Amino acid sequence: MNITYLRGNNSFKLDTDNTSYVIGIVDSEGFIGHAYYGAKIPNDNVTYLMRTNENPLVPSLNGRDRSSFLDTFPTEFSGNNVGDYRESSINIRDKNGASGIQLLYRGYRIINGKPKIKGLPATFSDEMNAMTLEIDVEDVNLGVKGTLSYSIFNNSDAITRSIRIKNVSDNIIYLDKLMSMCMDMDDDDYRMLVLHGSWARERHIEYRKIGHGKQSVSSIRGESSHQEHPFIALVGENTTQSYGDVYGFNFVYSGNFLGQVEKNQFNSLRVVMGIHPENFGFKLDTGDEFYSPEVVMVYTNQGLGHMTRTYHDLYRNHLIRSSYLRKPRPILINNWEATYFDFDNEKLLDIARTAKECGIEMLVMDDGWFGNRKDDNSSLGDWWVNETKIKGGLKKLVEDVNEIGLKFGIWFEPEMISPDSRLYRQHPDWAIAIPGRIPCRSRNQYVLDITRKEVRDYAYNCVAKILKSANIEYVKWDMNRQLTDISSACLEADRQGELIHRYVLALYEMQERLIAEFPNLLLENCSGGGARFDPGMLYYSPQIWCSDDTDAIERLSIQEGTSLIYPLSTMGAHVSVCPNHTVGRVTPFDTRGNVALAGTFGYELDVTKLSEEDKEAIPQQIATYRKFNKLIREGDYYRLASYSENNYYDCYQVVSKDKSEALITFVQVLNQPNMHSIKIKLQGLDDNKIYKIEGKEETYHGETLKKAGILIERLNGDFQSKLLHLIEQ
Ligand code: DGJ
Repeated sequence: MNITYLRGNNSFKLDTDNTSYVIGIVDSEGFIGHAYYGAKIPNDNVTYLMRTNENPLVPSLNGRDRSSFLDTFPTEFSGNNVGDYRESSINIRDKNGASGIQLLYRGYRIINGKPKIKGLPATFSDEMNAMTLEIDVEDVNLGVKGTLSYSIFNNSDAITRSIRIKNVSDNIIYLDKLMSMCMDMDDDDYRMLVLHGSWARERHIEYRKIGHGKQSVSSIRGESSHQEHPFIALVGENTTQSYGDVYGFNFVYSGNFLGQVEKNQFNSLRVVMGIHPENFGFKLDTGDEFYSPEVVMVYTNQGLGHMTRTYHDLYRNHLIRSSYLRKPRPILINNWEATYFDFDNEKLLDIARTAKECGIEMLVMDDGWFGNRKDDNSSLGDWWVNETKIKGGLKKLVEDVNEIGLKFGIWFEPEMISPDSRLYRQHPDWAIAIPGRIPCRSRNQYVLDITRKEVRDYAYNCVAKILKSANIEYVKWDMNRQLTDISSACLEADRQGELIHRYVLALYEMQERLIAEFPNLLLENCSGGGARFDPGMLYYSPQIWCSDDTDAIERLSIQEGTSLIYPLSTMGAHVSVCPNHTVGRVTPFDTRGNVALAGTFGYELDVTKLSEEDKEAIPQQIATYRKFNKLIREGDYYRLASYSENNYYDCYQVVSKDKSEALITFVQVLNQPNMHSIKIKLQGLDDNKIYKIEGKEETYHGETLKKAGILIERLNGDFQSKLLHLIEQ
């Protein structure tokens, strides 16, 4: 890795192991241009790629048509309302109500390491393993200064980008929009890969053609959402898993976002990503600063798989802080699908006893243990134990569970308030609402205005008090509705637009406080399944509940899309009962286990009601989990075949970093009549190592397995699966 200032041509060059990124400073005014992002190149002058030589309208030479220059110049950060008609990266309203900004180059620093982004989750590094380029920018007319940050990491092809800006004028200004990154590039026939979904089918992969105009992914729901994901990849026409161009952009943020690709009149693309400007606005007094979240960019010419592994390694080494990241997580059983709201301490203890016999290690008590909660109509905010259900209290229950030999975990939804709760009756103004308008209920609940310190403190202290009251080793932090009625009782009229970002900052502050005060706690984030599965939340919790859909077949698509960016060790995945509660499908117990193995692995069922056959299968599943979990947690992930693409089978592989072993998971979703075996070419193996499939005699070079492949026999029936363990000889 290196960052160089090339004095001769006034440009900056960032080099990762296999990629280069070149920024050129243009004209006496100091326009900041994007010259190159792609495969690594020598330190030649490539600023010609900005085409300023072809453009007779460079402002200092020809002021006649400044707009034509700005509207075509490939910039690193677009201005607004001063000549570039493509998507702006920043909008600021001045004291007269006018918007117009152009940030121009002022200077730079190259520093070792990576500075933190105030109040926000971000990738981190020590001084040895990262370098950062900070480019100072300014709009003198407005009195706004800023810094564009770019960081690179040792042994990684990722580049992160963010910006901070400061009001250095004597006047109030209003920040109406701030993207975290902007990049202009030629369109070499890219497609746009996005992750779309809904509740119970999050993050399905979708390709879109890039047409002229704007195409985007976004959320204005107050969270990263089930529906769209803060991720875009530009993918070459012939790109596969192991070959071809990919540019990935992933936003480290858990609230509203916009990721957009715009194809202009000259077929060049502008990519922007940042906080969604809708309902957003920040008032900046003199001296105030605003920090944008960061975007993690990955370029590769080695296909989607290389992009995936780059994100996985970056997030494992430089984003997820929890010590559990590198540890086997306790195998938990969660009572949600087992009982929903209908449980008491006896029921939980029954589950715990049988779970213990099967080798399960932790009982998680889900929603329904507090206030008067009988269903989802009441009690959020009343975080005291319902002793009608938990007779003898929580401490006693936890002691009893511990006595059985299981750890204990608990569910919270700290950001919420039920209209039917003691808390709401005492503090109706604590719910987010627009004065005079009846706020939208969703799942019959409101959202707490955690941007208010007293509200945040109340919610946090409720959680902390419960955690201190018993030996609780795991928390599932849920969030079951999206935001509406964005307005705060405590913000001045011209600060109301700050609420939605302040909400996310407040959430981060609460989670930071939680992991600081309870450093040994295993935290799993969740949002009605996987609506807040994003890199921002991974900064606080090493795992996130991937989806409320626990059906093994639907999970193939959800986990394929999720693992495109996020390490397998982060995906909350459990074995549940059949017919599956969401889709009604019946799949074999071992396929449910094999699919959950590619995540954190656990159970979400009433183990006391399982058939003897399924119950007896659990110890074997657990043994398989123990055998492969380190490999799955730490290895390199390769996608070999996709059921979403071929409609018949799914196949993926995890290879250990030293390439001494690999696990191949094959799921035959639909059997096909009168068909021969399926050939799968393995990936990621060492060409020269000799491997054997466990249980078989023959040995093969890694090179043979990669080039010639293996044959997988058809399995008898639909939804069947198989694990193949490859071991170096
Ligand atoms: C949504 C979660 O995804 C479920 O697992 C469960 O915890 C429910 N909320 C409880 O209300």
